[in-house]
Amino acid sequence: EKAKAAPGIYDVLKTAMNYYRAQLKTAPAAIEYLKSRGVEGRTAARFGLGFAPSAGQSLKTVFADYDKNPVIKEAGLVAEEENTLRRYDRFRSRVLFPILNQRSQVIGFGGRIMGNGAPKYLNSPETPVFEKGKELYGLPQARAAIRDRGRVLVVEGYMDVVMLNQHGVEYAVASLGTACTPEHIRKLLKLADEVYFCFDGDKAGKKAAWRALENSLEQLVDGKKLAFLFLPAEHDPDSYVQEFGQAQFENALLQDSVPLAQFLLKELSAQVELESEEGRAKLISLAAPMLSQVKAPAFGMMIRKRLAELSRLEMSELSTVLD
Ligand code: CTP
Ligand code: MN
Ligand code: MN
Ligand code: MN
Ligand code: MN
Repeated sequence: EKAKAAPGIYDVLKTAMNYYRAQLKTAPAAIEYLKSRGVEGRTAARFGLGFAPSAGQSLKTVFADYDKNPVIKEAGLVAEEENTLRRYDRFRSRVLFPILNQRSQVIGFGGRIMGNGAPKYLNSPETPVFEKGKELYGLPQARAAIRDRGRVLVVEGYMDVVMLNQHGVEYAVASLGTACTPEHIRKLLKLADEVYFCFDGDKAGKKAAWRALENSLEQLVDGKKLAFLFLPAEHDPDSYVQEFGQAQFENALLQDSVPLAQFLLKELSAQVELESEEGRAKLISLAAPMLSQVKAPAFGMMIRKRLAELSRLEMSELSTVLD
């Protein structure tokens, strides 16, 4: 969190969260929606899920200074009409997922539309306390399990974290959207020795996995494990754990996940024709800029060794080419 956070912003966000939580209790449509998604009451409570009513200025109920308090605006809770400066609530008719920082302070919200419509999720804007590229959704709830199990699982979405947790996979956090930044990776590697990525089985999820790999290379440390679980195309972790359960998900995580080095070489190999000299030369040219980012000595050597095998060069020959 940035140091320049205005005093009061956390209080304002907490007040809003408590208000939204209370609203959920008296919103049958929202409760029905969550039930239809399989979310149990105690799960909703554990993650502080709430509901933003449809009225334009619901938050007036809890903020007497709604019209003029700059902190309410700064917290991203209201938007202002350009000419009149009239304020209205950012979140309306949505189920809300409070986003907490690692000290369990509310820093923002993700709001899901109930049913179809766009945007599916509306998130808090970047604010002095909310930087999307840094935060991991669900971290306070996952922290103990991450420590106990020595592993952290990274998924894409709010519902993935929430439903994995409900099914006993409590060490999951979400990168909020598909992008896993270098800052995310840095935090993840501090949390545990084993970092698993399990993004959606669709094309976007595959792309996200590759980007996570790219953003990891510089930070790899010998002795830490990064691996990727690829789900069937039609699944995300939420749908998968609801259909197949905790045991099968965790079995897949341990048995079917692909270690980073294997993923890297498999993807690069798929882009070339390994049977030709030209193809193998291209493989080396694709791998070289990635390898040069790897600072972990043993790990870098393993990748070189495998690259030498694939390119049918001696290690000494490969070294000449890479340097
Ligand atoms: N996301 C977002 N804005 C969107 C769509 C997605 O911020 N318009 C983020 C959310 O954090 C979301 C994550 O990206 O949880 C993954 O997106 P997606 O897979 O499309 O949604 P799900 O998490 O699977 O949501 P649901 O199961 O409710 O459809
Ligand atoms: Mn998706
Ligand atoms: Mn998804
Ligand atoms: Mn989903
Ligand atoms: Mn179930």
